[in-house]
Formats: sequence, C-alpha cells, structure tokens
Amino acid sequence: MTVGVGVIGAGVISAQYLANLTTFPDLEVRFVADIDLERAKARAEEFGIPASGTTEELLADDGIDIVVNLTLPSVHAEVDLAILAAGKHVWSEKPIATNAADARRVLDAAEAAGLRVAVAPDTVLGAGLQSAFRAIADGRIGEPRTAITQVLNPGPERWHPAPEFLFQAGGGPLLDLGPYYLTTLVSVFGSVARVAAVGSISRPKRVVESGPRAGTEFDVTVPSYSALLLEFENGTSAQATFSFESALPRAGFFEITGTDGAIVLPDPNMFDGDSSLWTLESWKGLTGPEQPTPETVEATGPADGRGLGVLELARAIAAGVPERASGALAAHVLDVMLAAAESAERGETVAVTSRVAPVEPLPADWNPKEATL
Ligand SMILES: NC(=O)c1ccc[n+]([C@@H]2O[C@H](COP(=O)([O-])OP(=O)(O)OC[C@H]3O[C@@H](n4cnc5c(N)ncnc54)[C@H](O)[C@@H]3O)[C@@H](O)[C@H]2O)c1
Repeated sequence: MTVGVGVIGAGVISAQYLANLTTFPDLEVRFVADIDLERAKARAEEFGIPASGTTEELLADDGIDIVVNLTLPSVHAEVDLAILAAGKHVWSEKPIATNAADARRVLDAAEAAGLRVAVAPDTVLGAGLQSAFRAIADGRIGEPRTAITQVLNPGPERWHPAPEFLFQAGGGPLLDLGPYYLTTLVSVFGSVARVAAVGSISRPKRVVESGPRAGTEFDVTVPSYSALLLEFENGTSAQATFSFESALPRAGFFEITGTDGAIVLPDPNMFDGDSSLWTLESWKGLTGPEQPTPETVEATGPADGRGLGVLELARAIAAGVPERASGALAAHVLDVMLAAAESAERGETVAVTSRVAPVEPLPADWNPKEATL
C-alpha cells in the first residue's frame, strides 16, 4: 500500500522535497498545486507527477491523505486549516505559523478532526543529528548541561529569487533559521522556560540579487541579527546567534557540553555529517599546550533530505504512534522564537509557558527506501 501525497507550493524548496518524496516506496505523490498554475505544472512535469492545478483541486482528490504545505510562512496556517477541513493530514514547512494564536488554531483543528499536523524541520530525523542524539542518549558526554550554536551568513537575497519573506514578519534569521537550531536544542534539553535576546537591523533596505527580479529593492522590517540566551525547564542553558548580515559565513556551528565531555554536531540545517566528541577523560595527563584528538561519531541512518518527515508521519499514522516532528514541538519552538523577539523589543527576559514531551530517537535501521506499509 502507498500513502497518497499532495504538495501545495511549487517554489524553490519544492524541488528538494519532490526529488526525495518520489524515491520513497511508501509514498505516492499525486498532485502539485500553486496559486501560480504554470509553476505547479512545470514542477509536476519535472518530477513525473501526474496532476497539477489549484489547491481546491488537490484537496478534492480522495487518493491524497497527506498534504505537504510549502507555501510562505504568512499563509502556512490558513493553508493548513484548509487541508484539515478537507479531512487530510498536514506536513507544513516551518515556521508552523507567524503567531501563537494561529499555531493554536491549527493544532486545535487537527485535534477536533482526529488528524495530524507535523512540521519541518525534518533535519532532526537525518543521520547526522540522530547519530549525535544516540551518542548523547548513550551517555557519551555525561549529562548535557550547556550549548552554543551560531549560524551567520550574508543573507539569502543573494540566491533566492523572491527573498522578501525572509526579511519581513514571519522571517528574519530568527524565524527562518531558528527552527533548525532550536528544535535540535529542545530535542536534547527539553522545553525552554525563558529567553533573553537582542536583535538589530544593519541595513533597512536590501536588493534581490538573482532571478528575473534581480535589482528590485525591498524593506527589511524584522531583525537581521538575533542573539539569544535560553534557559530550559531542567535548569540547563544555551546561547544561539542567527545572522543574515555577516560577510564571514559560519554555517551552523553547534556544540553541546555535558558533565563528562562535549560533542560538536553537524549543521542542524543538514541531514548528514559526522559529530566530533571531546571527553574530559582524554585531557588526563595533558599538562602542556597539547590537546587531545577528538573521536569521530560517524553518521549512520537515512540522509535522504527534505521529505523524510513526511514519510515518518505516514508511517507513524499507519502504526498509530505519535510522529516525531510534531506540531506541538513546532508550536513550542515558535513560542521560543516569539519570546526571543519580544525580549529583544522589551529589553526583558520573557517566560515560555508551553511544554513538549521528549522525542524518541529513530531506530538506527530506519530505512526510507523500504516498502513498509
Ligand atoms: N528556500 C529554501 O532553501 C528553504 C529551505 C527550507 C525551508 N523553506 C521553507 O519552505 C517554504 C517555501 O519557501 P520557498 O523558498 O520555496 O519559497 P518560494 O517563494 O520559492 O515558493 C513559495 C510558493 O508558494 C506559492 N504560494 C504562496 N501562497 C500560496 C497559497 N496561498 N496557495 C498556494 N500556493 C501559494 C507561491 O506561488 C510560490 O510558488 C517557506 O516556509 C520556507 O521557510 C525554504
């Protein structure tokens, strides 16, 4: 048996999703929709998907059980609500919504209808992070206590043909990149209890640099730099920096320190990559300038890329168990990001009241290429 999938939003990221979703034997992509019908048609043809058209036409297809929402953050919630109203499960790109009330509406509608809402990032299900999570769960660094993460780059207007949404309400590096890094932090440390943050805009106007609209100027209306201090419910803490204004790129540095050692994870925006492990034990006897050699934690498991979470959702529904990249997790991460934005604006620490349950690591032999349903 295969699970029918429809995709709404045929923009930049739909190519990565379709390249992967079409290789999973448990899924069958049946329809691509977009408000730009030509774009939907071109994407469907590119990946051999049999049908394309409007969202309404997609939602009328009885053979579709899960709808993948790859529209813009400003319309994620309204598109999710339409999908749920049509009796279908949702996989949504991040962020789940641009405000907490919309996220709540989506989760409530799903619960009332007995449907699921799962949300990106699914990079947390990739081989790189899952292997690191297993090493942490095995006690390789002792008890995780603190973390440092930072992702800095010059900004996406260099390569994205329509980058405005990444610099306006619902975007900025905090809401655009934050979900990858904060979901990883929550996966290791549990729920965030409070946040203090600063944020700023270095250049209030930017210019589209590639595609047919190159040269178009647009306004930057949310911080293009955010720095956060986070305290988790269990008393541990982390710091996180997100920037679209650095000429010096630092792609997703992520370090977790525990009572017995530290682990450097691969970039949480990626699905693969080894981790390196530094133990306090390995410093024993080193009294001079020399340093121990870190141990490599090899990434094992699926590294297929965007779409893994859609498959995990389909399998979780079939098995009657909770999906890992849940809407509740995404809503908590949204609460953390909104608390950070509020903290930066008010100059005060802001409490986060939502809580999420810990997520089980994936079994090491979880195989997307196997037909299991
Ligand atoms: N571009 C990336 O590298 C990337 C990576 C990871 C996640 N994402 C996320 O994926 C989502 C889409 O990003 P993108 O870069 O593909 O954007 P994009 O602008 O390239 O594509 C968005 C598409 O959605 C369509 N659309 C907008 N509103 C719609 C509606 N109401 N109904 C139907 N279609 C609608 C647009 O016509 C467009 O084709 C965003 O949430 C973004 O955060 C993007």
